[in-house]
Amino acid sequence: MRKFLIDTDTASDDAVAMCMALKHPDVDVVGFTVVAGNVPLDQAVQNALYTVELCGADTPVYVGADRPMLRDLGTAQDVHGEDGMGDIGLPLTGRTPAEGWAPQVIIDTIRANPGEITLVPIGPLTNVAIALLMAPDIAEKVERVVVMGGTGETGPGNISPTAEFNFWVDPEAVRVVLRSGMPLEFVGWDVSIKSAVVTNERQEHLRTLGPLGNFAIDIQATLQGYAWEETRLAGPDFPDPIAMAHAIDPAPATTEHLGVDIAIGSEPMRGTIIVDHYGFAQIPKNVHVVAHYPEAHFFSMLYDLLGD
Ligand code: RIB
Ligand code: CA
Repeated sequence: MRKFLIDTDTASDDAVAMCMALKHPDVDVVGFTVVAGNVPLDQAVQNALYTVELCGADTPVYVGADRPMLRDLGTAQDVHGEDGMGDIGLPLTGRTPAEGWAPQVIIDTIRANPGEITLVPIGPLTNVAIALLMAPDIAEKVERVVVMGGTGETGPGNISPTAEFNFWVDPEAVRVVLRSGMPLEFVGWDVSIKSAVVTNERQEHLRTLGPLGNFAIDIQATLQGYAWEETRLAGPDFPDPIAMAHAIDPAPATTEHLGVDIAIGSEPMRGTIIVDHYGFAQIPKNVHVVAHYPEAHFFSMLYDLLGD
């Protein structure tokens, strides 16, 4: 069994990624740490607790940072819904998180399992950065860090012309992580819009898979509209689920070891990743950037894991 610790700003795509990990026979999800991002922290915590319960699991959910390290919180409720789960009336209240603060849980879990934890941040990196500032030693003790974030080498932004949402929310946290020495693998939004667009045909297939397949589509109610009107994709895309697929099975991915930094400051460059292809800025090679993840492999895994 591989031990996953998943850091999430639980909204409609995070929830699908959580189900994938919880349902995978070889993955032991040791915990979910929650960060503010798509929705305010308390809502993300309730969404995570609901999703764990829906999967019939008892995995602990821990509360984390309610805002970026040095900025006000910007949410994506226009993309995922006010409640983050498509505003379809799910009972997303009244559940109780585990004792413990997310950054401390990240530290304690990695220290207690040296070389065995795959950390999978699928939201802003605030919790991870705080953990690193408190305990820099965890960088060499974690086995893998698979991040949904950034725009790969040349992808478009989804919150500004060049920035992806997770990295835009807390760019200072991204820089802490980039300079930490952690074994980083980035799955950017470029990979999601190329290989994880849930077309109508795929949605129909998911609906034949039973409760989790229907859940995975029902909660995309807001994202559906955003896709049609804003990104003009052929359906909602699944960035966190395809990042989770890479965490579960990195074999089919095409990656490149690159020097990566991030633009801090204000618009229009806030949160834009800087990929030093030719070494002009002498950025040390610190990230394995996923350039491609096969679409068929992703959807085959998604169907297998969400099926009854
Ligand atoms: O840019 C996509 C990312 O932002 C995903 O993690 C999605 O859940 C949102 O957090
Ligand atoms: Ca997310």
